[in-house]
Amino acid sequence: MRKIGVLTSGGDAPGMNAAIRAVVRRGITLGAEVLGVRHGYAGLIAGDFVPLETASVGDIIQRGGTFLQSARSERFKTPEGQREGFEKARAAGLDGLVVIGGDGSFRGAIRLTELGLPCIGVPGTIDNDIWGTDRTIGFDTAVNTCLDAIRKIRDTASSHDRVFVLEVMGRSSGWIALAAGLAGGAESIMLPERPLTIEEVALRVKRGMERGKRHSLIIVAEGVGSGFDVGREIQKRTGYDTRVTVLGHIQRGGAPTAADAMLASRMGAKAAELLLEGKGGLFVGEVNNELVAQPLENVLGKRKGIPAELLDLAEILAT
Ligand code: ADP
Ligand code: F6P
Repeated sequence: MRKIGVLTSGGDAPGMNAAIRAVVRRGITLGAEVLGVRHGYAGLIAGDFVPLETASVGDIIQRGGTFLQSARSERFKTPEGQREGFEKARAAGLDGLVVIGGDGSFRGAIRLTELGLPCIGVPGTIDNDIWGTDRTIGFDTAVNTCLDAIRKIRDTASSHDRVFVLEVMGRSSGWIALAAGLAGGAESIMLPERPLTIEEVALRVKRGMERGKRHSLIIVAEGVGSGFDVGREIQKRTGYDTRVTVLGHIQRGGAPTAADAMLASRMGAKAAELLLEGKGGLFVGEVNNELVAQPLENVLGKRKGIPAELLDLAEILAT
């Protein structure tokens, strides 16, 4: 392989730029030319390519978002769209492609590999919901953003003896809620992996306040439902003044933490190495601090659970 491409797809995540930079610089040191594909698979179909040199990725390692931009392409989910993307890649002379994104993006990478364009996946999503890797790029930064919000909310909550509901992201996964709740000492964490009923949460709030707590913080993963619905029900059942904050896309932005920038740099470089060794149909994961390459197919239909031990700990400490 001599010419490789790189794209970012799905929801952006802090650290994606660091991953692109690593693909480009490692690819070039291994003698390859690197083309960036703008706007994910939509850009692949449109043939929206940009040559990337060592200097093109200067000064981006600490920038949030993705300078190649990302997209969600319905067209690419169809066989015709995939064929169009494949033809454009071939016409541009691409021998392989690094796909940085979540499991939806990995499905697209499998299709392209089947069509004859070897792809390597790099897990980039704040949700940390990809099977086969202990961490995904962007998760640590998103959790730290939540933690910053928790500290600020606690200040105002305890000044007014209030209950606060903080809704955090995670399309169908409670990883962000669990990590932020555990690290931030939340009183209740509502997440899809171990649902708590409104009655249980209301009981916890009442018990805590009666014991002398000056506030109660409830973290709600978006996969469980709306933070506003939870807030309304809690106020109704406890009588405590309750406020709701939905953190939203603030969690997707910002400079990557050191942990994310390191992870992205290691994974991006590894992806370029794998492609240039002639491999394809794989993704890079981090398992027990080591990078491992596994078949993209392994991810399909699998859910990355949260270890029971962590769920138990969160419950024990949040009394
Ligand atoms: P993520 O990669 O973060 O999970 P999405 O699920 O939105 O994000 O997927 C990103 C893009 O990947 C989609 O817009 C689509 O172009 C492509 N994609 C998703 N699912 C498939 C699929 N089953 N086959 C081919 N491409 C897919
Ligand atoms: O998958 C990452 C994520 O941020 C989820 O946590 C969230 O549900 C979703 O993307 C939001 O996506 P959109 O870009 O469509 O607002």
